[in-house]
Amino acid sequence: MTIDPKNDNRKYNPNIGVNDDAPVQKSPVKWMLMLLALIIVLTAGTLWKREKISLKATPHFPELTTSGKLGRIIVNEQCAECHGEDATGNSRNGPPLMHPMYREEIFPDFHFRRVLKEGRPSRAWQFGPMPAQPQLSDEDITNVIAFIREVHDATGVE
Ligand code: HEC
Repeated sequence: MTIDPKNDNRKYNPNIGVNDDAPVQKSPVKWMLMLLALIIVLTAGTLWKREKISLKATPHFPELTTSGKLGRIIVNEQCAECHGEDATGNSRNGPPLMHPMYREEIFPDFHFRRVLKEGRPSRAWQFGPMPAQPQLSDEDITNVIAFIREVHDATGVE
């Protein structure tokens, strides 16, 4: 059979001459790029979410009581590394405590005390566990709670 060169559809068929049983070679590059893009999107999403959580706190500082002042010193010396300066967040190691989640109605003092004495596994956030603070006396804890509550009240955290 002769082939009319004007009507030779063989050159449009990329599979012509290829053994049908031969494994089809697909480049993995496309999939690797898609996977990379997915990883970048997920990582960026997680970082953005953390940043957003930290920025939620916009506290107002009242004239603190003596107890509140002592609590503030403890917070800035022992908690700021994870909870940010004045426990306002903006840390990649822990949540802000000046946050509606820790208002008295849903986070009562007895729970606050227990967390400081016993620590707490990571639950509400993605920062990891809250380590116990056995160095704090009952009075220290009272002062820390006073500081947090006084700022909550002045901020109208509810
Ligand atoms: C090494 C880091 C680190 C230090 C230091 C630290 N915390 Fe935390 N804290 C965390 C993390 C992380 C969480 C969040 C745990 C979670 O996912 O619920 C947390 C949670 C808390 C909570 C909320 C717990 C709950 O049940 O939701 C309180 C209250 C708290 N911290 C108080 C303090 C105080 C007060 C200090 C200082 C005396 C302190 N933390 C020091 C990391 C820390």
